[in-house]
Amino acid sequence: MDLKEHRSIAIDGPSGAGKSTLAKRLAKELGYHYVDTGAIYRTVALAALRTGVDPADSNGVAALLPGVNVTMDYDGDGLQHMYLNGEDVTAAIRQNEVSAGASKAAAIPAVRDFLLETQRGLARNFDVIMDGRDIGTVVLPDADVKIFLTASPEARAERRWRELLERGQQADKVQILQEVMERDARDSGRATAPLRQAEDAVLADTTELDFEGSFRLLLGIIQERLGGTPNE
Ligand code: DC
Repeated sequence: MDLKEHRSIAIDGPSGAGKSTLAKRLAKELGYHYVDTGAIYRTVALAALRTGVDPADSNGVAALLPGVNVTMDYDGDGLQHMYLNGEDVTAAIRQNEVSAGASKAAAIPAVRDFLLETQRGLARNFDVIMDGRDIGTVVLPDADVKIFLTASPEARAERRWRELLERGQQADKVQILQEVMERDARDSGRATAPLRQAEDAVLADTTELDFEGSFRLLLGIIQERLGGTPNE
């Protein structure tokens, strides 16, 4: 018997593997809350950048944390809005500078400790699909389903490049690939909660798959894993 009141699905993997787009669609399909944990780290990085603190400066960022209030809610479309001390920063956290900053701030143990309970609290209160880097390994080690979603760095850089072009932004493919590889190295190489596949996670490689194919693959894994564990 499963004593947990709510079910949780952990999706971890490197940047650009399609975690958030897929998790969002899966959450809709299954009627779960989608929790984008990267957005939480991005909000802390934004707080640092706005106050002139280098997101890589562990003492500087740790000193800021008591004055940082990170909250979130969901609009009618299920979009997760992020608030920094009450201000809606959902759009601001998507800037390139914040992406690099989040990856640096996320390597600071005090930041990870500060955000851990926020993430666990969500999983206690809702059925969640949570995406990040350490959800299956650290945040929700008892998640009902764990998926490690990946794709080759080249495929991930190509997707990012197309996304930017579609938004009418100039983009250099070589530079994007370099940024993808730098973030991978930082996220996997850090001492605290590095990106790695949990032992009981299912590996899903979407290098050769389009969105629909990836969605079917993940839905199949989830249905198979949840199949034998009724939520009562
Ligand atoms: O998923 P994302 O690109 O929005 O995440 C931003 C950064 O936050 C990313 O470089 C790694 C970090 N992160 C993390 O360390 N742990 C998580 N659970 C989620 C994100």
